[in-house]
Amino acid sequence: MYETPFHEQPLDNITFLVTGGAGFIGSNIVEYLLKYSVKKVRTLDNYSNGFRKNLALFAGDSRLEIMDGDIRDAAVCAAACAGVDVVLHEAALGSVPRSIKDPVLTNDVNVGGFVQMLTAAKDAGVKRFVYAASSSTYGDHPGLPKVEDRIGKPLSPYAVTKYANELYADVFGRTYGMEIIGLRYFNIFGPRQDPGGAYAAVIPLFIDAILQNQPPTLNGDGGQTRDFTFVENCVQANIRAALVQNPAALNQVYNIAVGDRTSLVEMYDILREEAGSDLAPKFGPDRAGDIRDSLADISKANNLLGYDPKVRIREGLRQTLEWFKANQEFIQARD
Ligand SMILES: NC(=O)c1ccc[n+]([C@@H]2O[C@H](COP(=O)([O-])OP(=O)(O)OC[C@H]3O[C@@H](n4cnc5c(N)ncnc54)[C@H](O)[C@@H]3O)[C@@H](O)[C@H]2O)c1
Repeated sequence: MYETPFHEQPLDNITFLVTGGAGFIGSNIVEYLLKYSVKKVRTLDNYSNGFRKNLALFAGDSRLEIMDGDIRDAAVCAAACAGVDVVLHEAALGSVPRSIKDPVLTNDVNVGGFVQMLTAAKDAGVKRFVYAASSSTYGDHPGLPKVEDRIGKPLSPYAVTKYANELYADVFGRTYGMEIIGLRYFNIFGPRQDPGGAYAAVIPLFIDAILQNQPPTLNGDGGQTRDFTFVENCVQANIRAALVQNPAALNQVYNIAVGDRTSLVEMYDILREEAGSDLAPKFGPDRAGDIRDSLADISKANNLLGYDPKVRIREGLRQTLEWFKANQEFIQARD
């Protein structure tokens, strides 16, 4: 992965902080930064959903500083932001069902922690703050494809927290003159995504099921569509947002997806083909808080960030499947 760089300017004079760096997307960003000669990358994580082992892969690299701590703690956030040029804020509690089960905790981390991080970045004079927003912000808006300025009502506590992030980012940009960019991710998947636990995302769950030869459960009729996005595209968006100089690109939110729509059944069929499996899925009830269809218009990110996703769903699923096959032991032994 990351055979082609997404940046022209050197990274060897930039210090990054990646919050949630031990998680799925965060650890992929770290991998890219280290591969392309970053000056320094610090991670901040409390390992509530991430894994130390995701970072152990890069152990011994003197440019990587691993900080343990919680984004809800102001002193931790201040220490994490000290000397940092760019924050890539990935730490949050993902999952719609988790937020329905425990809205207070999701709000504490995703909103409380977010404001702590924004404040610490402001106080430390961080030059750029890029954060993980979410397609869940489109809520009940029926329009397809999704365009950034047309959103509906949130459908879950998680969606409320991600929309609140956007509102805070906008206010911090205007009030304190900060350079902030929000990236509304659409169903990101790829290596190191966690297939375990009650709140696993659908692609690692399906891959795990195929590899264990246990039929996965598709929620609803499986006709729900998503703009599934390989993590390499998501990393590209972060790098471009971190480095973009065009003033018109700042203090904006962007859809980060591919611009393709695939149903759950179609996605599962691609996985089965790639894996050479004929395992039939089971069908379960619809999930609360989920939308039926999702598809992004990515022209804003293309025009203003130069974002150009290279990996489409089949290739991304193939690479992800290969990674899961080759890393079964690693996945079982993560802590
Ligand atoms: N994966 C997706 O499809 C997707 C879609 C939309 C938005 N997002 C957002 O992208 C970001 C990264 O998601 P991911 O899929 O890599 O999830 P992840 O759970 O793998 O990573 C999140 C990381 O944040 C850490 N974290 C959680 N609470 C923390 C706290 N209080 N203090 C410090 N660290 C904490 C976790 O331990 C974990 O390592 C999240 O903000 C998520 O909401 C993801």
